[in-house]
Amino acid sequence: MTKPIRLGLIGCGGIVRLNHISVFLSLSDSVRVVALADLAPENLEYAGNTLEVPPAQRYTDYRDMLAKAEIDAVSIATPHSLHAEHAIQAAEAGVAIISEKPMATSLEEADAILAAVKHNGVPYTVIHNLLFTLPMQEALAQLRAGKVGKPIFGRGQLLGLKPADFGADHANPAMAWRAQKAIGGGCIIDTAYHEIYSVEALMGSPVQYVEARVKTMHFDIDVDDIAIMLFEHQNGTVSTVSASWCSPAPTPERGRWCEVHTTSGSIRVYHRDEEPLWRFTRAEGGWKSLDVLEETIKESPGIGGHFGCYAAVFDALATGSEMPVPGEQARHNLAIVEAARQATDERRAIEVR
Ligand SMILES: NC(=O)c1ccc[n+]([C@@H]2O[C@H](COP(=O)([O-])OP(=O)(O)OC[C@H]3O[C@@H](n4cnc5c(N)ncnc54)[C@H](O)[C@@H]3O)[C@@H](O)[C@H]2O)c1
Repeated sequence: MTKPIRLGLIGCGGIVRLNHISVFLSLSDSVRVVALADLAPENLEYAGNTLEVPPAQRYTDYRDMLAKAEIDAVSIATPHSLHAEHAIQAAEAGVAIISEKPMATSLEEADAILAAVKHNGVPYTVIHNLLFTLPMQEALAQLRAGKVGKPIFGRGQLLGLKPADFGADHANPAMAWRAQKAIGGGCIIDTAYHEIYSVEALMGSPVQYVEARVKTMHFDIDVDDIAIMLFEHQNGTVSTVSASWCSPAPTPERGRWCEVHTTSGSIRVYHRDEEPLWRFTRAEGGWKSLDVLEETIKESPGIGGHFGCYAAVFDALATGSEMPVPGEQARHNLAIVEAARQATDERRAIEVR
């Protein structure tokens, strides 16, 4: 058995508390968190105590961690505008990099990361966690096996309502930075980001052209709070993505979902723990919940896919195989985000760079 990967965390805030920590504890055969870096002492303390990281390995400056700690890899979970700096410094330190989405806030930053990763020969991946949920994996397997037919149209959606004092909620800094342009916030890059890669994976063909309206409709913030997109894929098929931070009504579909339709059937994935996967086929004559997965889902920590995603990443690091979501794939998702913003400004379809 190979030794567990020695991991350092850069950023120990909301998603680390909510999700990453339990994943690292569940995957203790593959990973050991040995060092932490965060500006906020309370976040360092919580993560340090829960993960049993010695006080000497809890750093307030991530550069000290990179210089002093004995680590094989870092996991970056800081606000978006810091991802490029943190990834490039980690590449220079010669460690593998796992970055929370998005990889950066612009394609120029993304290219600088890819150049640093290549120059230093380190593995790099971005967390596209919703690809790794059990229902999503099963949907992709069914599509690959031809059980639903060949996708011709897809949709993805997440409608929600952020708190009314969104931009000024100092009690919750994670809310405040998400609503600021200078920190790389906004509905499309923070939220719709997941629907974009999910729909593209189900369609099985890269997005080539983007039409969109990415707008600030409700909140007094300098980033978008609604993102409506129409994609044409390389193979000529089409899909749509709708995401909103300002929709209070619970939809009948309840929360986040994505789906594809073919002439013989359809498949829909909900990111929730009850009845998450539905399939329609003309032969079966109606929608069916594929509840065979339910028990498996309950055994897996979290419904957000981080468990499956990190498991695949640690496996790739241990075996030296290709990372599950390579940098180029994450750059492509960011290029779709940029194309959608440009399509809004110019009111025309934009080809993805
Ligand atoms: N994949 C997902 O489903 C998912 C869900 C939530 C968040 N995220 C991503 O995770 C990242 C973090 O989001 P969050 O909700 O945890 O935000 P957060 O604000 O709760 O946490 C960010 C942490 O980074 C720390 N930090 C800020 N500057 C730092 C620096 N220079 N050095 C070290 N630490 C620093 C903050 O003190 C804070 O603890 C974002 O990229 C976000 O998009 C992903």
